[in-house]
Amino acid sequence: MYEQYIDLIKERLRPERYIHSMNVARCAQQLALQYGADPDQAYLAGILHDVCKNDSDEKMLQMFSEFGIILDNVQQHEKKLWHAICGAAYVQRVLHIEDRAVIDAIRYHTTAREHMTLLDKILYIADFVSEERDFEGVEQLRESLRIGLDHCYVDALVFSIQELTQQKKPVHPDTCLAYNQAVLTAGKD
Ligand SMILES: [Fe+2]
Ligand SMILES: [Fe+2]
Repeated sequence: MYEQYIDLIKERLRPERYIHSMNVARCAQQLALQYGADPDQAYLAGILHDVCKNDSDEKMLQMFSEFGIILDNVQQHEKKLWHAICGAAYVQRVLHIEDRAVIDAIRYHTTAREHMTLLDKILYIADFVSEERDFEGVEQLRESLRIGLDHCYVDALVFSIQELTQQKKPVHPDTCLAYNQAVLTAGKD
């Protein structure tokens, strides 16, 4: 399934990024089955979430201008955020994927956002805990996922904000909103 998109990322991405993307796709598909989301949407979002990750800054800037995308202050300074914004535009405008849920999951896979859908959360978490991930703290996140998706979601946001603040990097407002909403609603559903 989705062979053409698998071939596409194989061509567009470096080998290790391709492996990561396929691991994220399988992990997201599994989480979707477990938590009652659409496994096909999750698999597709996983395959394509980093589709622009290995594009040059110049290429992404060109796409932003072509698609009329204006970056906010934090986005302008944090190039790591670009591939998610670019990737969402790319799947919509170049690949002509019309599924808003898939586009949004890709768009918010780095920052998260307020009102994350189940699919958004699944991709966000799969990107952290996919099979090849070996950063310090990944085992705690995997442990947290065993407790539950929402539990792991809060821990992943905390992890991300800690990493950024320790390096005195800006935290995108979408991440702050996501974090506040996640902790304010924790345990209420
Ligand atoms: Fe990414
Ligand atoms: Fe990723």
